[in-house]
Amino acid sequence: MQNENAIQTINLTKTFKSKSHDSRARFFSRNTVSVNAIDNLSFEIKKGELFGLLGPNGAGKTTLVKMLCTILPPDGGSAFINGYDIVKEPMKVKRSLGTLFSVGERGFFWRLNGYRNLEFFAAIYNVPRQKRQARIMEVLKLVGLENSVFELYQKYSGGMKRKLSLARTLLPDPPVLLLDEPTAGLDVISSRNLRDFIRKTVEETGKTVLYTTHYIEEAAQICTKIGILKQGKIIACDTPEALRDKIKKDELIYLILEEITHAQIEKMRSIQGVIDITEKIDQDITPNQKGLCVQLQNVDQLPLIFGFLFEQKIKFVNFRREEPSLEDAFIELTRKV
Ligand SMILES: Nc1ncnc2c1ncn2[C@@H]1O[C@H](COP(=O)(O)OP(=O)(O)OP(=O)(O)O)[C@@H](O)[C@H]1O
Ligand SMILES: [Mg+2]
Repeated sequence: MQNENAIQTINLTKTFKSKSHDSRARFFSRNTVSVNAIDNLSFEIKKGELFGLLGPNGAGKTTLVKMLCTILPPDGGSAFINGYDIVKEPMKVKRSLGTLFSVGERGFFWRLNGYRNLEFFAAIYNVPRQKRQARIMEVLKLVGLENSVFELYQKYSGGMKRKLSLARTLLPDPPVLLLDEPTAGLDVISSRNLRDFIRKTVEETGKTVLYTTHYIEEAAQICTKIGILKQGKIIACDTPEALRDKIKKDELIYLILEEITHAQIEKMRSIQGVIDITEKIDQDITPNQKGLCVQLQNVDQLPLIFGFLFEQKIKFVNFRREEPSLEDAFIELTRKV
């Protein structure tokens, strides 16, 4: 039977042991602590999916990518790339994958130009000799380095080095791409170009992409599905819209008010149906104004708020209904569990 999953993990686990810096732990027991970087993780990514993996620092994103590309052996469970077992069939896994890591541009020759560097990797990746030149020029163009082909690598800026790393990842034309923070360190335009490029690649070629990032809204722009990883576990996995809807239970109202006192805000808080009030700093707020995010159980309670403002003679400058962003969803979900 044809496997429809490009990536699948079953109870995948990775535990790191490191030296404890706590002097009491050192005194009473062995001085090692264990971190479950990936904790019994079971999830799948279907072929042709652009899957965004979000998670706070230390959530386990890079560890997962390292295991999937066979750099790091798992301590338990299993994982499959295009149906190939990462432990039992590492060569087939490697041939199915292109991986880009968030840090380091290791492996490039500083005294060679971009083209020559890729020529070296094309040979290593067994790109057929007669197709090499065309393929190298193609990937350099894809990542936007076509004008810097013959510049020495040592003269490349950080962003250009990153683009060359991506070009190297794309060289063998693998069906599955693991991209660990591909846009980190890129300027706004390069970052957008790269996102557009990834989305287009997935749409046109049916490749599967696992894309880790800290930029939540950028994941929402291009990913068909998003997983939120926390302490080695996926705590939510859905389409960006469905994740937003998960926290869209209450009504959020944004008010810009003039000369409201702290005591008045507290009074407002006690109005029936008000769940919470938080201050929100907006660019267009002047020093005598306050931006307040009012969370209501129901939009029907809005007249009570306006009645209160009227009664207290508080001038209101602006008002809008707030849609929760994916960032709100991320904060809420990672805080909860
Ligand atoms: N080689 C290692 N030795 C010990 N602990 C490690 C090692 N690599 C990672 N860890 C730990 O495993 C956990 C997951 O780290 P990982 O780098 O996978 O997180 P991440 O989600 O990629 O974080 P970031 O967003 O900061 O890149 C962290 O607690 C980290 O300290
Ligand atoms: Mg990482």
